[in-house]
Amino acid sequence: MPLKICFASAEVTPFAKAGGLADVSGALLKYLHADGHDIRLFMPGYSSIQRAGLEIYPVDFLRNVSVTLGSHRYEFSVSTAQLPDSSAFVYLVDCPAAFHRGSIYTADADEYRRFLLLTHAAFICCQRMAFAPQIMHFNDWHTAVGTLLMRATYGWDRLFQGARSVLTVHNIGYQGIVSGTVHAEVLPGGPVSMFDQADYAAGRINLLRTGLAYADRITTVSPTYARELRTAEYGMGMETLLRKRADAIVGILNGVDYDEWDPRRDRYVSQHYGANQLGVKAELKDQFLQRIKLTGGPRTALIGIVSRLATQKGFDLLFDCMPALLRAREFNLVVLGTGEPRYEEFFTDLQLRFPDRVHFQRGYSDELAHWIEAASDMFLMPSRYEPCGLNQMYSMRYGTVPIVRRTGGLADSVQHFDPATGAGTGIVFNDYNAEGVTWALNTALDLYQNKGSWRRLMQNGMAQDYSWSRQVRGYVELYESMVVHT
Ligand code: ADP
Ligand code: GLC
Repeated sequence: MPLKICFASAEVTPFAKAGGLADVSGALLKYLHADGHDIRLFMPGYSSIQRAGLEIYPVDFLRNVSVTLGSHRYEFSVSTAQLPDSSAFVYLVDCPAAFHRGSIYTADADEYRRFLLLTHAAFICCQRMAFAPQIMHFNDWHTAVGTLLMRATYGWDRLFQGARSVLTVHNIGYQGIVSGTVHAEVLPGGPVSMFDQADYAAGRINLLRTGLAYADRITTVSPTYARELRTAEYGMGMETLLRKRADAIVGILNGVDYDEWDPRRDRYVSQHYGANQLGVKAELKDQFLQRIKLTGGPRTALIGIVSRLATQKGFDLLFDCMPALLRAREFNLVVLGTGEPRYEEFFTDLQLRFPDRVHFQRGYSDELAHWIEAASDMFLMPSRYEPCGLNQMYSMRYGTVPIVRRTGGLADSVQHFDPATGAGTGIVFNDYNAEGVTWALNTALDLYQNKGSWRRLMQNGMAQDYSWSRQVRGYVELYESMVVHT
């Protein structure tokens, strides 16, 4: 049976992306729509969205809609934009006062209110469209309180009475903590007793915790992270609540949109290859090394990194060991990323010290990200924690061997290679310390010199199937198990 789903997300590929949340939201829209479900996805109409060339239409009955959050009044209008290469549309919530800023996320004082507006807009648009969702699916702290609003603010409306809520945790490190004084903005007209009382007594409201408390079901993006989240090491203060809600939690591994990430049809690189054309990959590497002006022949491994430069990603581990490794071993390193200054400074400095062997591109670039996947021999993700991680799965498809820490979705998607049996898809280390990552890099560099083993390892990865067309079934099964049959 086709399902009626309302979905709200702060990021959706290709319109607005800071990280994997965008890829997952875009893919769920595309694949649930292709599966015949009626999914209405709401996202902010950021000024950064490149509108030229997109099929965008204003929705005439969703113009100048007003929303009042505490003492703040907003007006929004809605346009639909077609998802490229799909017949699905997103709804862009156009509200310049909230979404015309320099970037998707800001450090502005009204950051939480921008996303509260998005969350309310999703409900109001459903009302105006007379769309009675069976599932309301919220993502991360930005739209988390939708699970509460569905019961409280919009609970009177029969339209939502058959709805059930899902909250997906893509990253528990971002919780949306606001002052308790803004309670009337978070829950207009609602009693403060609906908030976590310990938080409220301490003068704050935690938007993610609020959402987790009221969600009918909580999902996260890998089975291992679903377990880790209930521990003090990974729960970031949510573990007690999540232990109580254990029965409501399910881990569904993210998938890959192979229309976007496959070396046989990659839209950015100059030549295409499959598992039996690894010579083409070597040619791409040559071209790329020239472009980024690194030296080294075919037996010099190229290690790639594409990442937000945040503590989560584990690059602290490289501070001590990477310069020593660069001195001790023959390999090159290409890094694309932006984020916290200390990591940007570290990679900038590394490039200055090893100009022929390290290339750091500060910033965000889809084109360069695809080239790094295609041209590198190895891809490094030493994450401190990783709810799912996408690049390790992209890497495998490109024959680019992932070197990962055994945590979250990395543990669920990469199997350590055993040269004796020839089984395995990457190099996996356990301990979050410099010895761990050094061991992993040395193991990978040693194996790289063994042509037969390395080819096997590459081809094992290329044969993996993490397509969304498979992974999306986990969501459909979950939704179906929740639907209220009247
Ligand atoms: P996270 O969501 O924590 O950032 P994921 O591995 O799930 O981690 O997803 C990251 C996504 O963002 C990948 O598609 C990756 O290629 C992309 N990405 C991250 N940083 C950059 C960048 N600087 N330029 C281009 N793409 C990037
Ligand atoms: C997050 C996580 C990442 C995950 C992505 C999409 O930002 O850090 O591991 O893959 O969301 O779910």
